[in-house]
Amino acid sequence: MTSDTPARSLATVPLVRPRRLRTSPAMRRLVSETRLHAAELVLPLFVKEGLAEPSPLGSMPGVVQHTLDSLAGAVREAADLGVGGVMLFGVPAVRDATGSQADDPDGILQRGLRVAAEAAGGRLVVMGDLCLDEFTDHGHCGVLSDIPARDGSPRVDNDATLVRYQAMALAQAEAGADVLGLSGMMDGQVAAVRDALDEAGYEDTAILAYTAKYASAFYGPFREAVDSALEGDRRTYQLDPANGREGLRETDVDLLEGADVVMVKPAGNLDVLAAVAARSDVPVAAYQVSGEYAMIEAAAANGWISRRPAIEESLTMIKRAGADIVLTYWATEVAGWLRASQ
Ligand code: PBG
Repeated sequence: MTSDTPARSLATVPLVRPRRLRTSPAMRRLVSETRLHAAELVLPLFVKEGLAEPSPLGSMPGVVQHTLDSLAGAVREAADLGVGGVMLFGVPAVRDATGSQADDPDGILQRGLRVAAEAAGGRLVVMGDLCLDEFTDHGHCGVLSDIPARDGSPRVDNDATLVRYQAMALAQAEAGADVLGLSGMMDGQVAAVRDALDEAGYEDTAILAYTAKYASAFYGPFREAVDSALEGDRRTYQLDPANGREGLRETDVDLLEGADVVMVKPAGNLDVLAAVAARSDVPVAAYQVSGEYAMIEAAAANGWISRRPAIEESLTMIKRAGADIVLTYWATEVAGWLRASQ
Protein backbone atom coordinates (compact mmCIF):
# COMPACT_ATOMS: atom_id res chain seq x y z
CA MET A 1 0.00 0.00 0.00
CA THR A 2 1.35 3.36 -1.02
CA SER A 3 0.74 6.60 0.71
CA ASP A 4 -1.67 7.84 -2.02
CA THR A 5 -4.11 4.90 -1.60
CA PRO A 6 -5.46 5.40 1.89
CA ALA A 7 -6.55 2.33 3.82
CA ARG A 8 -10.22 1.45 4.11
CA SER A 9 -11.31 2.88 7.37
CA LEU A 10 -14.50 3.39 9.31
CA ALA A 11 -14.85 6.69 7.56
CA THR A 12 -14.90 5.09 4.08
CA VAL A 13 -17.00 1.98 4.82
CA PRO A 14 -20.61 3.11 5.26
CA LEU A 15 -22.61 1.42 7.98
CA VAL A 16 -25.80 1.87 6.00
CA ARG A 17 -26.15 1.45 2.25
CA PRO A 18 -29.50 2.81 1.01
CA ARG A 19 -28.23 2.47 -2.57
CA ARG A 20 -28.84 -1.32 -2.40
CA LEU A 21 -32.51 -0.63 -3.02
CA ARG A 22 -31.72 1.39 -6.14
CA THR A 23 -29.53 -1.15 -7.94
CA SER A 24 -31.92 -2.23 -10.71
CA PRO A 25 -35.16 -1.17 -12.35
CA ALA A 26 -36.82 -4.25 -10.81
CA MET A 27 -35.62 -3.31 -7.32
CA ARG A 28 -36.71 0.31 -7.75
CA ARG A 29 -40.11 -0.80 -8.96
CA LEU A 30 -40.49 -3.09 -5.95
CA VAL A 31 -39.73 -0.40 -3.38
CA SER A 32 -41.51 2.53 -5.03
CA GLU A 33 -43.67 4.31 -2.44
CA THR A 34 -45.76 6.31 -4.88
CA ARG A 35 -47.46 5.09 -8.04
CA LEU A 36 -49.67 6.92 -10.47
CA HIS A 37 -53.04 5.50 -11.50
CA ALA A 38 -55.36 6.75 -14.22
CA ALA A 39 -58.35 6.49 -11.85
CA GLU A 40 -57.08 9.29 -9.63
CA LEU A 41 -56.56 11.74 -12.50
CA VAL A 42 -59.14 14.35 -13.49
CA LEU A 43 -59.02 16.10 -16.86
CA PRO A 44 -60.11 19.77 -16.96
CA LEU A 45 -61.98 20.57 -20.20
CA PHE A 46 -63.12 23.85 -21.73
CA VAL A 47 -66.32 24.04 -23.77
CA LYS A 48 -67.10 27.24 -25.66
CA GLU A 49 -70.43 28.37 -26.97
CA GLY A 50 -70.75 28.97 -30.70
CA LEU A 51 -67.47 27.36 -31.78
CA ALA A 52 -67.48 25.60 -35.14
CA GLU A 53 -64.13 23.84 -34.61
CA PRO A 54 -62.02 23.13 -31.52
CA SER A 55 -59.80 26.14 -30.91
CA PRO A 56 -56.18 25.56 -29.77
CA LEU A 57 -54.84 27.67 -26.89
CA GLY A 58 -51.58 29.47 -27.58
CA SER A 59 -50.42 29.44 -23.97
CA MET A 60 -51.38 25.80 -23.38
CA PRO A 61 -50.00 23.70 -26.24
CA GLY A 62 -52.12 20.56 -26.65
CA VAL A 63 -55.17 22.04 -24.91
CA VAL A 64 -58.20 23.35 -26.82
CA GLN A 65 -61.50 25.07 -26.26
CA HIS A 66 -63.99 22.38 -27.26
CA THR A 67 -67.15 22.38 -29.28
CA LEU A 68 -69.91 20.20 -27.83
CA ASP A 69 -68.96 17.52 -30.36
CA SER A 70 -65.25 17.54 -29.64
CA LEU A 71 -66.03 17.63 -25.92
CA ALA A 72 -67.89 14.33 -26.25
CA GLY A 73 -64.89 12.85 -28.04
CA ALA A 74 -62.47 14.03 -25.35
CA VAL A 75 -64.65 12.58 -22.60
CA ARG A 76 -64.91 9.22 -24.40
CA GLU A 77 -61.15 9.11 -24.97
CA ALA A 78 -60.48 9.85 -21.29
CA ALA A 79 -62.99 7.21 -20.20
CA ASP A 80 -61.53 4.63 -22.60
CA LEU A 81 -58.11 5.12 -20.97
CA GLY A 82 -59.49 4.86 -17.44
CA VAL A 83 -59.21 8.52 -16.39
CA GLY A 84 -61.13 9.06 -13.15
CA GLY A 85 -63.06 12.20 -14.00
CA VAL A 86 -63.46 15.35 -16.04
CA MET A 87 -63.92 18.91 -14.77
CA LEU A 88 -65.87 21.15 -17.15
CA PHE A 89 -65.45 24.89 -17.62
CA GLY A 90 -67.93 26.75 -19.80
CA VAL A 91 -67.15 29.77 -21.96
CA PRO A 92 -70.42 31.56 -22.81
CA ALA A 93 -71.05 33.78 -25.85
CA VAL A 94 -72.70 36.49 -23.75
CA ARG A 95 -71.70 37.85 -20.36
CA ASP A 96 -73.40 40.20 -17.94
CA ALA A 97 -73.00 41.64 -14.46
CA THR A 98 -74.62 38.71 -12.63
CA GLY A 99 -73.44 35.94 -14.93
CA SER A 100 -76.95 34.92 -15.90
CA GLN A 101 -75.72 32.24 -18.32
CA ALA A 102 -74.19 30.41 -15.37
CA ASP A 103 -77.52 28.98 -14.17
CA ASP A 104 -79.47 29.04 -17.43
CA PRO A 105 -80.55 25.45 -18.17
CA ASP A 106 -79.41 26.05 -21.76
CA GLY A 107 -76.17 27.77 -20.75
CA ILE A 108 -73.05 26.32 -22.34
CA LEU A 109 -71.83 24.71 -19.12
CA GLN A 110 -75.12 22.91 -18.55
CA ARG A 111 -75.19 21.77 -22.19
CA GLY A 112 -71.60 20.60 -21.84
CA LEU A 113 -72.42 18.68 -18.67
CA ARG A 114 -75.28 16.88 -20.43
CA VAL A 115 -73.00 15.95 -23.34
CA ALA A 116 -70.22 14.84 -20.99
CA ALA A 117 -72.54 12.75 -18.82
CA GLU A 118 -73.89 11.02 -21.92
CA ALA A 119 -70.38 10.41 -23.35
CA ALA A 120 -69.09 9.17 -20.01
CA GLY A 121 -71.91 6.65 -19.65
CA GLY A 122 -71.04 6.23 -15.97
CA ARG A 123 -67.43 5.25 -16.73
CA LEU A 124 -65.95 8.38 -15.18
CA VAL A 125 -67.09 11.10 -12.79
CA VAL A 126 -68.44 14.28 -14.38
CA MET A 127 -67.66 17.51 -12.55
CA GLY A 128 -68.68 21.10 -13.22
CA ASP A 129 -66.79 24.23 -12.22
CA LEU A 130 -69.04 26.26 -9.95
CA CYS A 131 -67.89 29.86 -10.16
CA LEU A 132 -69.10 33.01 -11.87
CA ASP A 133 -65.86 34.30 -13.42
CA GLU A 134 -66.45 32.83 -16.87
CA PHE A 135 -69.95 34.29 -16.95
CA THR A 136 -69.59 37.82 -15.62
CA ASP A 137 -68.69 40.77 -17.84
CA HIS A 138 -66.26 42.03 -15.17
CA GLY A 139 -64.60 38.62 -14.80
CA HIS A 140 -64.86 38.37 -11.02
CA CYS A 141 -65.89 35.15 -9.31
CA GLY A 142 -68.96 36.78 -7.78
CA VAL A 143 -71.40 39.61 -8.22
CA LEU A 144 -70.18 43.10 -7.37
CA SER A 145 -71.38 45.24 -4.53
CA ASP A 146 -72.81 48.72 -5.20
CA ILE A 147 -70.22 49.97 -2.73
CA PRO A 148 -66.72 49.77 -4.20
CA ALA A 149 -63.62 49.24 -2.10
CA ARG A 150 -61.95 52.33 -0.56
CA ASP A 151 -59.49 52.55 -3.44
CA GLY A 152 -62.40 52.52 -5.89
CA SER A 153 -61.78 48.96 -7.13
CA PRO A 154 -64.73 46.57 -7.50
CA ARG A 155 -65.82 44.75 -4.35
CA VAL A 156 -67.24 41.25 -4.63
CA ASP A 157 -70.42 40.87 -2.59
CA ASN A 158 -69.88 37.59 -0.74
CA ASP A 159 -73.41 36.84 0.42
CA ALA A 160 -75.17 37.93 -2.75
CA THR A 161 -72.77 35.64 -4.61
CA LEU A 162 -73.78 32.65 -2.46
CA VAL A 163 -77.33 32.95 -3.79
CA ARG A 164 -75.98 32.85 -7.37
CA TYR A 165 -73.86 29.80 -6.50
CA GLN A 166 -76.96 28.03 -5.16
CA ALA A 167 -78.74 28.63 -8.47
CA MET A 168 -75.69 27.37 -10.41
CA ALA A 169 -75.55 24.27 -8.24
CA LEU A 170 -79.14 23.35 -9.04
CA ALA A 171 -78.63 23.97 -12.77
CA GLN A 172 -75.50 21.79 -12.86
CA ALA A 173 -76.99 19.02 -10.76
CA GLU A 174 -80.04 19.00 -13.00
CA ALA A 175 -77.76 18.80 -16.06
CA GLY A 176 -76.10 15.68 -14.69
CA ALA A 177 -72.97 16.77 -12.82
CA ASP A 178 -71.89 14.15 -10.27
CA VAL A 179 -69.59 16.60 -8.48
CA LEU A 180 -69.59 20.38 -8.21
CA GLY A 181 -66.20 22.09 -8.05
CA LEU A 182 -66.65 25.17 -5.89
CA SER A 183 -63.80 27.39 -7.03
CA GLY A 184 -65.02 30.88 -6.10
CA MET A 185 -63.49 31.22 -2.61
CA MET A 186 -66.55 32.91 -1.11
CA ASP A 187 -67.01 32.43 2.63
CA GLY A 188 -69.79 29.98 3.38
CA GLN A 189 -70.02 28.64 -0.18
CA VAL A 190 -69.93 24.96 0.75
CA ALA A 191 -72.75 25.25 3.32
CA ALA A 192 -74.86 27.41 1.00
CA VAL A 193 -74.54 25.01 -1.94
CA ARG A 194 -75.02 21.91 0.22
CA ASP A 195 -78.21 23.36 1.62
CA ALA A 196 -79.63 24.26 -1.79
CA LEU A 197 -78.80 20.82 -3.20
CA ASP A 198 -80.36 18.94 -0.29
CA GLU A 199 -83.42 21.14 -0.31
CA ALA A 200 -83.99 20.26 -3.98
CA GLY A 201 -83.42 16.53 -3.54
CA TYR A 202 -79.86 16.46 -4.90
CA GLU A 203 -78.37 15.04 -1.72
CA ASP A 204 -76.21 12.64 -3.79
CA THR A 205 -74.48 15.43 -5.71
CA ALA A 206 -71.01 15.78 -4.20
CA ILE A 207 -69.00 18.92 -3.45
CA LEU A 208 -65.33 19.26 -4.28
CA ALA A 209 -64.29 22.41 -2.46
CA TYR A 210 -61.41 24.51 -3.74
CA THR A 211 -60.37 24.93 -0.14
CA ALA A 212 -56.87 26.35 -0.21
CA LYS A 213 -56.99 28.25 -3.49
CA TYR A 214 -54.23 30.79 -3.76
CA ALA A 215 -54.30 34.05 -5.73
CA SER A 216 -51.73 32.83 -8.21
CA ALA A 217 -49.86 34.13 -11.23
CA PHE A 218 -49.89 30.53 -12.45
CA TYR A 219 -53.53 30.83 -13.55
CA GLY A 220 -52.40 33.07 -16.41
CA PRO A 221 -52.90 30.63 -19.30
CA PHE A 222 -56.31 29.58 -17.90
CA ARG A 223 -57.50 33.14 -18.30
CA GLU A 224 -56.88 32.77 -22.05
CA ALA A 225 -58.68 29.42 -22.00
CA VAL A 226 -61.86 31.02 -20.65
CA ASP A 227 -61.48 34.33 -22.54
CA SER A 228 -61.39 36.00 -19.12
CA ALA A 229 -62.68 39.55 -18.83
CA LEU A 230 -60.85 40.14 -15.54
CA GLU A 231 -58.87 43.29 -14.92
CA GLY A 232 -57.01 43.47 -11.65
CA ASP A 233 -56.76 40.43 -9.42
CA ARG A 234 -58.63 38.18 -7.01
CA ARG A 235 -56.65 38.96 -3.88
CA THR A 236 -59.70 39.95 -1.84
CA TYR A 237 -61.07 36.42 -2.02
CA GLN A 238 -58.29 33.99 -2.96
CA LEU A 239 -55.55 33.20 -0.44
CA ASP A 240 -52.29 35.08 -0.17
CA PRO A 241 -49.49 32.72 -1.32
CA ALA A 242 -47.56 33.81 1.77
CA ASN A 243 -50.05 32.11 4.10
CA GLY A 244 -50.03 28.41 4.92
CA ARG A 245 -51.99 28.39 8.18
CA GLU A 246 -54.83 30.24 6.51
CA GLY A 247 -55.15 27.33 4.08
CA LEU A 248 -55.60 24.98 7.02
CA ARG A 249 -58.26 27.25 8.51
CA GLU A 250 -60.13 27.14 5.19
CA THR A 251 -59.83 23.34 5.32
CA ASP A 252 -61.43 23.15 8.76
CA VAL A 253 -64.27 25.41 7.66
CA ASP A 254 -64.95 23.46 4.45
CA LEU A 255 -64.92 20.15 6.32
CA LEU A 256 -67.38 21.55 8.86
CA GLU A 257 -69.62 22.85 6.09
CA GLY A 258 -69.75 19.39 4.51
CA ALA A 259 -67.19 19.31 1.68
CA ASP A 260 -66.87 15.79 0.25
CA VAL A 261 -63.41 16.48 -1.20
CA VAL A 262 -61.04 19.33 -0.35
CA MET A 263 -58.52 20.73 -2.81
CA VAL A 264 -55.26 22.64 -2.81
CA LYS A 265 -54.46 24.82 -5.81
CA PRO A 266 -51.96 25.37 -7.38
CA ALA A 267 -50.67 21.86 -6.62
CA GLY A 268 -47.15 23.29 -6.26
CA ASN A 269 -48.10 24.45 -2.74
CA LEU A 270 -46.75 21.09 -1.60
CA ASP A 271 -46.32 22.06 2.05
CA VAL A 272 -49.96 23.11 2.29
CA LEU A 273 -51.01 19.97 0.42
CA ALA A 274 -49.15 17.76 2.91
CA ALA A 275 -50.62 19.61 5.87
CA VAL A 276 -54.16 19.46 4.46
CA ALA A 277 -53.75 15.73 3.80
CA ALA A 278 -52.68 15.20 7.41
CA ARG A 279 -55.71 17.11 8.67
CA SER A 280 -58.46 15.96 6.34
CA ASP A 281 -60.64 12.91 6.81
CA VAL A 282 -62.09 13.27 3.29
CA PRO A 283 -60.18 12.75 0.03
CA VAL A 284 -57.70 15.47 -0.88
CA ALA A 285 -57.32 16.78 -4.42
CA ALA A 286 -54.65 18.99 -5.95
CA TYR A 287 -54.95 21.05 -9.14
CA GLN A 288 -51.87 21.18 -11.34
CA VAL A 289 -52.84 24.48 -12.90
CA SER A 290 -52.45 25.99 -16.34
CA GLY A 291 -49.19 27.81 -15.55
CA GLU A 292 -47.63 24.69 -14.07
CA TYR A 293 -48.62 22.88 -17.27
CA ALA A 294 -47.37 25.67 -19.52
CA MET A 295 -43.98 25.91 -17.79
CA ILE A 296 -43.15 22.27 -18.45
CA GLU A 297 -44.54 22.39 -22.00
CA ALA A 298 -42.54 25.52 -22.81
CA ALA A 299 -39.30 24.20 -21.34
CA ALA A 300 -39.77 20.90 -23.17
CA ALA A 301 -40.53 22.65 -26.46
CA ASN A 302 -37.24 24.53 -26.10
CA GLY A 303 -35.34 21.34 -25.37
CA TRP A 304 -34.54 22.59 -21.86
CA ILE A 305 -36.25 19.75 -20.04
CA SER A 306 -37.21 16.19 -20.88
CA ARG A 307 -40.98 16.31 -21.26
CA ARG A 308 -42.32 12.92 -20.16
CA PRO A 309 -40.03 12.43 -17.15
CA ALA A 310 -40.78 15.99 -16.03
CA ILE A 311 -44.53 15.41 -16.26
CA GLU A 312 -44.28 12.10 -14.42
CA GLU A 313 -42.05 13.56 -11.72
CA SER A 314 -44.33 16.54 -11.17
CA LEU A 315 -47.36 14.27 -10.71
CA THR A 316 -45.42 11.91 -8.45
CA MET A 317 -44.38 14.80 -6.19
CA ILE A 318 -48.00 15.95 -5.93
CA LYS A 319 -49.15 12.46 -4.98
CA ARG A 320 -46.28 11.94 -2.57
CA ALA A 321 -47.18 15.17 -0.80
CA GLY A 322 -50.62 13.74 -0.08
CA ALA A 323 -53.01 14.16 -3.01
CA ASP A 324 -55.51 11.36 -3.56
CA ILE A 325 -56.85 13.02 -6.71
CA VAL A 326 -54.93 15.19 -9.20
CA LEU A 327 -56.48 17.55 -11.72
CA THR A 328 -54.08 17.81 -14.64
CA TYR A 329 -54.31 18.80 -18.30
CA TRP A 330 -52.13 15.76 -19.03
CA ALA A 331 -54.64 13.28 -17.54
CA THR A 332 -55.50 11.46 -20.77
CA GLU A 333 -51.94 11.37 -22.07
CA VAL A 334 -50.59 10.06 -18.77
CA ALA A 335 -53.38 7.47 -18.59
CA GLY A 336 -52.22 6.31 -22.03
CA TRP A 337 -48.62 5.95 -20.79
CA LEU A 338 -49.79 4.05 -17.73
CA ARG A 339 -51.81 1.66 -19.85
CA ALA A 340 -48.91 1.06 -22.24
CA SER A 341 -46.55 0.26 -19.37
CA GLN A 342 -48.83 -2.36 -17.79
C1 PBG B 1 -62.06 30.02 -11.40
C2 PBG B 1 -60.93 29.12 -11.73
C3 PBG B 1 -59.65 29.48 -12.13
C4 PBG B 1 -58.96 28.29 -12.34
C5 PBG B 1 -59.83 27.25 -12.09
N1 PBG B 1 -61.04 27.78 -11.69
C6 PBG B 1 -59.06 30.80 -12.42
C7 PBG B 1 -58.95 31.79 -11.36
O1 PBG B 1 -59.24 31.56 -10.18
O2 PBG B 1 -58.55 32.91 -11.70
C8 PBG B 1 -57.53 28.18 -12.77
C9 PBG B 1 -57.14 26.86 -13.31
C10 PBG B 1 -55.84 26.85 -14.02
O3 PBG B 1 -55.07 27.83 -14.01
O4 PBG B 1 -55.54 25.81 -14.64
N2 PBG B 1 -63.26 29.58 -11.98
